[in-house]
Amino acid sequence: MCGALRPSDAGKKAVLMGWVNRRRDLGSIIFIDLRDRTGVAQVVLNRELNSAAHDKANVLRNEYVIAVLGTVKLRDADTINKNIPTGEVELVADEIRILNDSKQPPFLPSDTALTNEETRLKYRYIDLRRDVMQFNIEMRHRVAKAIRDYLSGQGFFEIETPFMTRSTPEGARDYLVPSRVQPGAFYALPQSPQMFKQILMISGFDKYFQIVRCFRDEDLRADRQPEFTQIDLEMSYPQPERVWEVVEGFLVAAFKAAGLEIKTPFPRMDYDEAIRLYGIDKPDLRLPAFTDVRECFAPENLQQLAVNQNLPVVAIRIPSVGELSRAERDSVKPLFISKGGAKVFEDFKRIEKNFPDAAAKIAAKSRAQAGDLLVVVAGSAQTGEQTALPSHRKVTPSELAIYASAGLLRITLAQKYAERHGLFKKSGDPAKDFRFLWVTNFPMFEWYEGEKQWNAAHHPFTSPHEEDMSLLEKGVESVNDPQSPLSAVRALAYDVVLNGTELGSGSIRIHRQDVQRRIFRALGMSEEEAKARFGFFLEALEYGTPPHGGIALGLDRIVMILAGAESLREVIPFPKTARAVDLMVDAPTPVGEKQLKELGIIVKK
Ligand code: AMO
Repeated sequence: MCGALRPSDAGKKAVLMGWVNRRRDLGSIIFIDLRDRTGVAQVVLNRELNSAAHDKANVLRNEYVIAVLGTVKLRDADTINKNIPTGEVELVADEIRILNDSKQPPFLPSDTALTNEETRLKYRYIDLRRDVMQFNIEMRHRVAKAIRDYLSGQGFFEIETPFMTRSTPEGARDYLVPSRVQPGAFYALPQSPQMFKQILMISGFDKYFQIVRCFRDEDLRADRQPEFTQIDLEMSYPQPERVWEVVEGFLVAAFKAAGLEIKTPFPRMDYDEAIRLYGIDKPDLRLPAFTDVRECFAPENLQQLAVNQNLPVVAIRIPSVGELSRAERDSVKPLFISKGGAKVFEDFKRIEKNFPDAAAKIAAKSRAQAGDLLVVVAGSAQTGEQTALPSHRKVTPSELAIYASAGLLRITLAQKYAERHGLFKKSGDPAKDFRFLWVTNFPMFEWYEGEKQWNAAHHPFTSPHEEDMSLLEKGVESVNDPQSPLSAVRALAYDVVLNGTELGSGSIRIHRQDVQRRIFRALGMSEEEAKARFGFFLEALEYGTPPHGGIALGLDRIVMILAGAESLREVIPFPKTARAVDLMVDAPTPVGEKQLKELGIIVKK
């Protein structure tokens, strides 16, 4: 292979095959950089020594595919290239064969400046020849293999589940596949193998995993694709800690495959605590937590500032960002409109000027250093008083509004001024700081104001806390009330978070069909509807279902982080655009009348 030539090969005959990466014509001597998956080697053609091969090299252009037979030779000292592993040797060609020519590509794999992404995606096969993409795709292979090997070693079976199936609720829309033999009926592509993996537990395969494609029709972002890959697993009889141990084990293996070492066990944090400390359920631990600074102000200070004294007052500290300019402050201001009355004191200097005592206490309590940016967030005096909450919930909705605003501001400031504070390293930086976290004890339900009903915060198969079963029982009597005891039901759900990205989500499941029915009821589903959508599943639960639980992690997200890439598109060979289009094959496309007719489909223009 091109990338394998070393000084120890000097004197040997070799045949190399690959693409012409570059051709330098010095008249009597032509140099060709020949490229394959493993790297680049220099080929030399000397007219004096071999005029036939030299003539042939004259017609070579970028991306021609050639075979070269020649002799490996050490380079002269002054022509050694220290930047590439093959830089001490070259192949002196005896014979060249052109295996295929190439049109001039729209961009070259060796171009250092990237062309626009549309062109890259349309000509993905050229784009994938670039060394960064070759690296990323190889990394993906290694990571997936390490995980597969690890889980197999732990006694998990990889078992396939259907792609043409029924809807699985994971919060997105389904992609549908029409049936030809039953016109008017549709399969749904799975949003996840959730129900199948639970049924595998009922079927006696007590440790299942699958590296599996999932399909979700949802709004796309840099970390979301319509088809993506999960590392999905399920086991019988686990406590959450057992699932976490398995995940930590395969993540160690995956990171090792990328040459990185990580420490386990990962720290754990309650959902409520994550909200109180970071204002978000996927905190980035590379940044300091909030500091509660209400006590730093005298009550009359808070009055003067028109702050609601019953709500939290938190300081955000972003290291090394320095003071924001006026324009910078203005650009983050919109984050505070209509967020439940949260209010930002944009200017710590003003607090310093008007309330020097409070400012000194805040700076000390939040351990601010010179050059750190401090921002204080509080509720405005007009915000409603706190609403009383059932005993288990530690954060009220008005408090949540403050924390969430502060959390959004914290992460936005850190990302916007990343370079200034030097914490979020740019891609490809080897000094990566991986801060994992388990977030646990999520609320079971979320209130959807638009639909005036409760939705499952994770998915409807997640088990409530044993201690909260009575709240669930009471709660199903008031399913259209935002104050329902349902608001306090905690789920046996957990997320694994890395540097502010949700890598995976899982839970201990419901294994009793009476509890499952109750959950469907809490979600506003009638008996008939539950039966129509999930009848097969409710029935399966009646035949000796062992307690079980599991998790799924996004493989694409893991590889994206390991590759230091900014988007999933950099680690998926054939990704889709933000409009869910595959630019290379041009999909989706309209289909012909004949096909529509066979499927019994009429398209409304
Ligand atoms: P969830 O919906 O949280 O859980 O998905 C699990 C993980 O899959 C990844 N992921 C995605 N990656 C790329 N593009 C997307 N559109 C996308 N959607 C999700 C994320 C996420 O954390 N069945 C449950 C798991 C379980 O309970 O076992 C599930 O699918 O990394």
